[in-house]
Amino acid sequence: MDKQKVLKELNHALTTEYQAVIQYLTHATIAKGIDSDAVISLLKHIAEEEMKHAEILRERIFWLGGTPTMDVDERTLVKDIKQMLKVNAKAEEDAIKMYKGILKMLNHIEDIEIYEAIEEILEDEIEHWEEFTRLQD
Ligand SMILES: [Fe+2]
Ligand SMILES: [Fe+2]
Repeated sequence: MDKQKVLKELNHALTTEYQAVIQYLTHATIAKGIDSDAVISLLKHIAEEEMKHAEILRERIFWLGGTPTMDVDERTLVKDIKQMLKVNAKAEEDAIKMYKGILKMLNHIEDIEIYEAIEEILEDEIEHWEEFTRLQD
């Protein structure tokens, strides 16, 4: 693997995990309307998982000799639950693409520890996308 390139991508991924935590928790507070209870508990649950992803990324970055960033990617505020679910399903879709891209940069055998960590995160992102998408129906 190209260590510097991987570190750059992992740090970018970390900014998106922080973004997700802040965005989902803020959305959970402002969610009002029909079925808002289900949306609120889903947002809080997913925010916790994103926090775990951030921890995994920090550890991997540090282990590779890098410094974990404290930057946060751009958050999106929404007007209603419909837009909330749409925006967040899109965020998860972007995360899926991003982690698939990182996996492609890694060597499954040589970078096994980091590869498996990213694979684990990717599985969660797919679930998140499914959950946001299911609630949109
Ligand atoms: Fe995540
Ligand atoms: Fe996610």
